[in-house]
This record gives sequence, C-alpha cells and structure tokens, in this order.
Amino acid sequence: MLRIYNHNLNYCETKYKGNWMQKLRIGIIGFGTVGAGVADGLVRNGELISRRTGILPEVAKIADLDITTDRGVDLPDDVLTTDMSDVLDSSDIDVVVELIGGVTTAKDVILRALSCGKPVVTANKALLAKHGEEIFAAAEKSNADIYYEASVGGGIPIIKVMREGLVANNFSEVVGILNGTCNFIFTQMEEANAEFEEVLAQAQDAGYAEAEPSLDVDGYDTAHKATILASLAYGEWFGMDPVTIDGIRDVTLQDIKYAGQLGYRIKLLAVIKQAKNNVQLRVHPALVPAESLLGNVKGVYNAVWVSGDVIGDTMYYGQGAGRDATASAVIADIMDVGLNLKTGARGRIPGFQPHSSSGQAAGENQIQTRYYLRLQARNKPGVLAEIAGVLGRYNISIASVTQQESRGETTPVVILSYEAREADVQQALQEIRTLDVVSENPMLIRIEDLG
Ligand code: HSE
Repeated sequence: MLRIYNHNLNYCETKYKGNWMQKLRIGIIGFGTVGAGVADGLVRNGELISRRTGILPEVAKIADLDITTDRGVDLPDDVLTTDMSDVLDSSDIDVVVELIGGVTTAKDVILRALSCGKPVVTANKALLAKHGEEIFAAAEKSNADIYYEASVGGGIPIIKVMREGLVANNFSEVVGILNGTCNFIFTQMEEANAEFEEVLAQAQDAGYAEAEPSLDVDGYDTAHKATILASLAYGEWFGMDPVTIDGIRDVTLQDIKYAGQLGYRIKLLAVIKQAKNNVQLRVHPALVPAESLLGNVKGVYNAVWVSGDVIGDTMYYGQGAGRDATASAVIADIMDVGLNLKTGARGRIPGFQPHSSSGQAAGENQIQTRYYLRLQARNKPGVLAEIAGVLGRYNISIASVTQQESRGETTPVVILSYEAREADVQQALQEIRTLDVVSENPMLIRIEDLG
C-alpha cells in the first residue's frame, strides 16, 4: 500500500496547487555502475519525473558491501547501508531494485522481496534467462510486480514495445544486435583493418570489453537477451536450452572484407523467427545487407528489428549498455511500479504471460537460411566442380562464387548459397572437409537478408 506523506505537502503545493503527491520509496540493492546511475538519475530528474507521473520518487535505501567509495551521487547520509535486510525487511520500502547481477544472491534477493509482496525491478538477464519461470511464478503467487526492461537492449525500451506497444501483433521475426562489445569489435575490425584478437585487446584496454570476454564474444550475453525477447514474442518461457549459440571469435578480417565486397556486413545477431511449425531461436555471426538498417548499426550501439503482422517492419536503436542508458530503463520500470501502486493496479502487466502460439523451439538442424562458405582450395583443375558436386548432392543451391586470381598453391573461394537446410549444410561441410582439394577448415557464416 503506498503511503501519502504530509512532509511532501509544501513541495506539492508549489507544483500542483495544493494536491498531495504520492511518494515512492525506492530500495536499491547493488551500488555498482548501474546502481549509481539509477540513484543519480532519480536525484537529478526526480522532480521532472514527479511532474510527469504525479509520483515523487525517493531513493530511500541503497545496500552494498562498499558504501565508502564516492560514486558522485549526492545522497543523505542515512541512505547507504551494508545490510540488504534494511531494504528487504523494511516496511518503508515500496519497491526493491536488484542491481547486483549474477544468478545466486540476486535470485535470493528477488525471491525474498517477492515473497513479502514487494514489487521488484531488475536488470538481470542471466538470472531471468535461467530462472525466469520460477521468478515469475513467485511474483504471481504474491501478486507483486516484476519489471525487467533493462535486461535487454540497455536503454532501448524494447520489453515495453513487445509487451504493450505491439500487443496487437503476431511476430514473424525479431532480429537484434544485442551486444555492444561484439558490435564494437566487428565495426573496429572493418574500420581499422584489424584482426579479432587485436581489436579485442584494444577494447579491453579502453574498458569496452571485459577482461574475461567470454560472456560477450562467445554469444551468451546475446543469448540471454534473445531468449527473453523470444519468450515475450511467442508466449513460452524458452530458457536457454533451445538457443543455438555461436560466438564471434572465428570470424576473420578476411571474412569481413569478402562480406563487404559482396554487399554485406557481419554482425552478431539474435535471430528469433516463426518458421512453419516452430520458432527458430539462434545467436550467431551473420551477413546482413550492408545498406540495411541493421547493417548500419555501428560501434557499441544495439538495435532490434521487429516485424509484426499488423504494424509491419519496425526498428529500435540506442545504447545497449552503460551507466545512464541502463539507468534510464530501470527508472522507467520503477515508475511503472509506482503508477501501478498509485492506481491499485498491481499485476497490470504480469512478469510473463504464457500465450503459446507458435509451437516448439526449432532444433539447430531445423534452421533454414542462406549461407556464406569460405574455403581455401587447391589451385588446380576440377576443384570447383568437386566442391559444387558435394553441395549439389545435399540439395544446396549456389547463388554466387567468388575466387580471386592467384599464383599460389591455394586460393580462397567464397560461395553464397540460396536458402538451404542447416542439417544438409552441416553434412556437406563435413564431406568438404575431407576433400583433398580443400586445405583448411572451411568457414561457414549464416546470412540474414532481413524482411
Ligand atoms: N556486455 C554487454 C554488451 C552489456 O557489451 O552489450 C551488458 O549486457
């Protein structure tokens, strides 16, 4: 139950001609980069937010093990605490904001808050990807809101778009660039003419990439976000198991250059697609048309392309990470909770509403798309015929072949296929690897023509 405070009366009289204003007392657990951004955003723009919503947000408590490092946010002395019970067990907190990350303590924090009927806001994609069903069930049981806008696309309000803005639509596809680190690496490889390892090292030095980059470059972070978007689009909480995940480590500068010559750019994509009887759910590097909107998303930016049967094609673009962009999404969630409390509309938007409409998630072998294949082939007669023969036997139709004139013993050959079945392509690849005329492991990258 939200309380009305007399001590806000003066403030409210000034701004709202004597109307009382409801106050939302916010408890934040985790005072890292995002926690500090949320506190800062609320302090800086609290008055603006209150004019927009009729609710005054107050940072009431922040719990963190480190409360001595200066985060540059101006807060009263009694706000900081090292004891998260001061947030979780206090009847003076209206909403709990979980910003500690990880899948252990964060889960306990969220379940504990929900079990007391406290609304929760979280940015924790890994946790939702892994334990979403359990968390949503707990929220439903206690009729407490759970909001998680910042879990996908940082500051881009894509969860609100999927759940509310596009509620009228069946989704034929959702394709996203959801990891800024990988997009930065591909952009730099192209623009600085550099290989993956060199750019990764630069990104680590500049603080864009983590010292342990696996979550980003091996595709897991994108997969966490993809499974959340897929679940919202298709009404089934998929979890991580059905997501096909390939990272970006194997993509070479050579691939980026060939893709460019053929009119494409390489991006790490989350591809969520309604197929005939199933949903394709995959994360992998892909060639996208260079002139397309997604092809032009550069640097650390994120973008999500959503096609609906009522609205048609749409795209959402913005900063997918970073202190203030993420804080913008977290604060929007906090204020949604506040509006629900103010209007007695708890549970207005369920954490997740099952509405399965599209069948099971497709297995990797059921993927059907176009392919880029780069081979290092021996420079002698009959080689192309041999490779084309294998592809033909597996029903893979060649769209184009590119081979540079070379006097060396081997030469790169790049083949683009028409749409083919992944199972066929993988078998063909296995056979091609055994050919004497092919000297290195071939590189296979999927193509997404979009739309
Ligand atoms: N590490 C992510 C990225 C942001 O590079 O986009 C957090 O999900």
